[in-house]
Amino acid sequence: MKGKTIQWRDEFSTGNDILDIQHKELITRISKLLEEAELLNTAAISGTIDFLFDYVYSHFVLEEKMMIQTGYPDFEVHLEQHTYYVKYINNLKKTRLITRELISEMQSVLLVWFLEHIIMEDRKMAEHLREYCHNGYSSN
Ligand SMILES: [Fe+2]
Repeated sequence: MKGKTIQWRDEFSTGNDILDIQHKELITRISKLLEEAELLNTAAISGTIDFLFDYVYSHFVLEEKMMIQTGYPDFEVHLEQHTYYVKYINNLKKTRLITRELISEMQSVLLVWFLEHIIMEDRKMAEHLREYCHNGYSSN
């Protein structure tokens, strides 16, 4: 796992340019954080966590706005997942000790969870946004 940068894959693409750009940025920053954690670079880690928190927060707010504006039917489930992730990163801010356990936890929550969220939830939401753009404005 050491120093492994996560490559963007087609399955991460939602087809929505803004969301994809932000997801790419997040994946890059998460990879960076995992590398810094491996190197026990605590000064860099706290800066990256602060960045991640702010970026994730505004990224999620954007998605939530899009879902509300278009009456996305799975909004509650999606929102719950966002809340879980934001809380997790917020707790990371308080972390002072980097352990092997924490690194593997960050690997599975920060990275794997997020990629699964993109694949399972964000792609579904983007599909809804596309349908809404094609049909929604004239439907009522
Ligand atoms: Fe999302």
